[in-house]
Amino acid sequence: MGDFDGMVAIVTGASSGIGRAVAEHYAKGGARVIVSDVDDAGGEGTVERIREAGGEARYVRADVSKAEESEALVRAAVDAYGRLDIACNNAGIGGEQALTGDYTPEGWRRVTDVNLSGIFYCMRYEIQAMLEGGGGSIVNMASILGQVGFATAPAYVAAKHGVVGLTRTAAIEYASRGIRINVVGPGFIRTPMIEALENEPATHEMLLSLHPMGRLGESEEVAEVVGFLSSRRASFVTGAYYAVDGGYLAR
Ligand code: NAI
Repeated sequence: MGDFDGMVAIVTGASSGIGRAVAEHYAKGGARVIVSDVDDAGGEGTVERIREAGGEARYVRADVSKAEESEALVRAAVDAYGRLDIACNNAGIGGEQALTGDYTPEGWRRVTDVNLSGIFYCMRYEIQAMLEGGGGSIVNMASILGQVGFATAPAYVAAKHGVVGLTRTAAIEYASRGIRINVVGPGFIRTPMIEALENEPATHEMLLSLHPMGRLGESEEVAEVVGFLSSRRASFVTGAYYAVDGGYLAR
């Protein structure tokens, strides 16, 4: 018996990287998964991988930075499978890299729209659907940069700190109503978002040196922790920030 037998899940940003690994993990555990993203080809690719492994999934396109698309995403999940039990709000972008004094207002808006407002919009509608179904579990994707600063990433860092605060607040609000809400903070993980940096040897070495384990993480290592938090095995865990960072924050 799987951790997610009979459950319905949504994963945003599931066309690639961490989101794809989470969608596959949920499906392997028995969930029916709504794979969502703005990259249609990647999303269909995730669905195909899940089906080939014997799982059940459908792709629904949604730009999480738009409230109406996040609402339609949750509605699509309930229409397709009748309920919503678990959600991983993972979609995110790296955005512009510049010092705060040089950061463009457009770049700021784009990153905060996707990485912070996008999480709020999805949670707003997921919570409503979960209340109707009698409860559920939400895991939001922050970062180590939801706990500490990082030069040239002011919007990303501010948005990820916001996700941590939003998670804690909603967790308190719904703790007695059957919805657990937690947040995961990955260190640098080998995904398309980071692979570009690996081609620059100096940057790559610098990133490795920030992780006491001396390596970057893998998407599946993040998915394992998301899976635990999403499952009934974490029944007394809510409002928690879980680092998955090879020791980055312990330094
Ligand atoms: P990725 O770039 O491989 O995947 C992100 C996915 O989000 C892509 O498929 C992209 O199309 C989708 N996306 C972008 N904007 C969207 C929007 N407006 N609506 C819906 N989908 C959208 O990146 P990765 O590395 O898998 O990142 C996933 C999450 O993990 C992000 O929130 C990221 O900030 C976070 N994270 C990643 C780390 C890393 O080192 N890779 C470290 C810490 C956190």
